[in-house]
Amino acid sequence: MERIKQALTRAREEQNKRGNFTLAEVKEHPASTTTDLEYDYTQTKVVELNSKVLHKNRVLFDKDNDRANTAYKLLRTQVEQRMLAKGWNTLAVTSPSPGQGKSLTSINLAISLARSKHNSVLLVDLDLRRPSIHRYFGYEPENGVADCLSNDLPVSEILFNPGLERLVVAPGKQSVYNSSEILASPRMGSFVNELKNRYKSRYIIFDLPPVLATDDAMAFSPYVDATLLVIEDEVTTNDQLKQTLQMLEGTNIVGTVLNKAKSNSGNYYYYYN
Ligand SMILES: Nc1ncnc2c1ncn2[C@@H]1O[C@H](COP(=O)(O)OP(=O)(O)O)[C@@H](O)[C@H]1O
Ligand SMILES: [Mg+2]
Repeated sequence: MERIKQALTRAREEQNKRGNFTLAEVKEHPASTTTDLEYDYTQTKVVELNSKVLHKNRVLFDKDNDRANTAYKLLRTQVEQRMLAKGWNTLAVTSPSPGQGKSLTSINLAISLARSKHNSVLLVDLDLRRPSIHRYFGYEPENGVADCLSNDLPVSEILFNPGLERLVVAPGKQSVYNSSEILASPRMGSFVNELKNRYKSRYIIFDLPPVLATDDAMAFSPYVDATLLVIEDEVTTNDQLKQTLQMLEGTNIVGTVLNKAKSNSGNYYYYYN
């Protein structure tokens, strides 16, 4: 873990030099009003989810997992402060490779943000090759994001509220094989604009594909204000981290999650930034 920490520290110093982190100037976010929130809630179908499935999938709807809730609250606070300071509201979540925790981090961060009364969150599954957010929620949607992008289905047709106030989800469904093309297409730009303008959530979180497998994440990065990088303890190598940071050069990395950290205290995850 030490070597990764050192690499992260160096990366953070680089980011600081580029002026991305300014915790001091926290200010009110311009984007959200109660009216926007109410709009989302009256228009979006509410899906009743199975709490056992959520629990099994580590989706933190219940408040009794103190350790996990605390870890995500800490992550939420850090992300929120940095986004607020910059007036940002769109966040991509990615990682070097698959399976490192992008989707679970996106979901639990979205939940944690939405628990704050002054926040509303739209969570979008853009891992078009391996959409999984609906599975974490134990919900089989009729259509997904790819149908909006390829078949011009209106976004409002796919959105659902998973029973938690102030959280709306745009799920994926089946996997698509031309995802780089879709993510780089002009339709993508209008889709993101539609999300930003029609659903004025304070935060929009995009669960992206991994950086090193394809150029999908790179193709999408111009559409978001900032990126959260998830790396896996004892799995992500220094070289992979270096390569990932190079690929993401020019994007605002809002923080890094060292996920599935093995520590003596037995925590099964740990946030390091
Ligand atoms: N912090 C964590 N602690 C324990 N298991 C985790 C953690 N983060 C992710 N996982 C598990 O790792 C697997 C991959 O996570 P996922 O978020 O789907 O990865 P990705 O979206 O990056 O492919 C899932 O089984 C998930 O439940
Ligand atoms: Mg995923």
